[in-house]
Amino acid sequence: MKIAIIYSSITGNTKLLAETIKNELKEDAVYFGKPNDDIDADIYFIGSWTNKGDASIDIINYLKKLKNKKIAYFATAGYGGSSEYYNTLFNRVKQYIDSSNTILGSFYCQGKMPIQVKERYVKMITEHPEDKNLEVSLKNFEDALTHPDKKDLENVKKWVNKILK
Ligand SMILES: Cc1cc2nc3c(=O)[nH]c(=O)nc-3n(C[C@H](O)[C@H](O)[C@H](O)COP(=O)(O)O)c2cc1C
Repeated sequence: MKIAIIYSSITGNTKLLAETIKNELKEDAVYFGKPNDDIDADIYFIGSWTNKGDASIDIINYLKKLKNKKIAYFATAGYGGSSEYYNTLFNRVKQYIDSSNTILGSFYCQGKMPIQVKERYVKMITEHPEDKNLEVSLKNFEDALTHPDKKDLENVKKWVNKILK
């Protein structure tokens, strides 16, 4: 079976999932890297970081082009812990996938964010100490710092094996 792993990652979180998927395969992936129009595979593992509630633009554009493929989607997001949130994110991504494709499944986990995000929250808290949502965002930032963690990587491996069964 020809398996391609196509992903977009700025700070390495989604890349770590992609590498974990690659290492979990019994055979070498026929493709591992950025979106590319020349990929020919039986299963397309496609991964993205979350950008303002959406996939990254290169992944959106790539998904839009695919027809009659089997797609397994994986992603990291700064906000975590809630399958409801991940469902919302994936529902948005699904809009880019043509109905001729088969969606084999999706996997999400939390991914640490750059320190500038924390600095922005801290500044906003000093300006708006009454805004409790900012405290929640700051806590989420701290929670994200260890992700993807060992458990996330175990979970993505399990997910891969379920997809390939
Ligand atoms: C410009 C920007 C926008 C982001 N937007 C969101 C978002 O809307 N929701 C979310 O959960 N995480 C968001 N994040 C967090 C990243 O998706 C998260 O840290 C991800 O794991 C980064 O993946 P990467 O290391 O593969 O680039 C954003 C990060 C950046 C830099």
